[in-house]
Amino acid sequence: MNLPKIPLGVDVMDRDHYALEHMFARTPQIADDDLPAHLDAILAEIAAHFVREEAAMEAAGVPILHCHRGQHAALLEEAGRLRNEFARVDAPARRHAIWFRLARLVSDHVASVDAISSRFFFDKAEESGAPAGRCG
Ligand SMILES: [Fe+2]
Ligand SMILES: [Fe+2]
Repeated sequence: MNLPKIPLGVDVMDRDHYALEHMFARTPQIADDDLPAHLDAILAEIAAHFVREEAAMEAAGVPILHCHRGQHAALLEEAGRLRNEFARVDAPARRHAIWFRLARLVSDHVASVDAISSRFFFDKAEESGAPAGRCG
């Protein structure tokens, strides 16, 4: 399996994060007129990934799932705002919104919320000092 920039050792995370990185990386090659469809495909993939990731966390009994769901909802809300701005901006701004802003939102989420949650798949949360049962 190809690994993402930050491998977390949880298959559904690593597989999906790699796929998302691959989609973001294609952004410079996307034609201007195709940027809205490219963004919509990424947004659909992010939403599908969140569903798979939450299901895996539920199956594994990850105790901070409710916090994680909240972070997913916040990211989707911000992504929706970014999508709404598309109608008012030109192609370079659209490319920047995908390639920098949205990609950063996702990579920050992976490096923080996903990284903390992944520890619970291996019962390492207690020894790592990760917060259990509370958000933020
Ligand atoms: Fe994730
Ligand atoms: Fe997540």
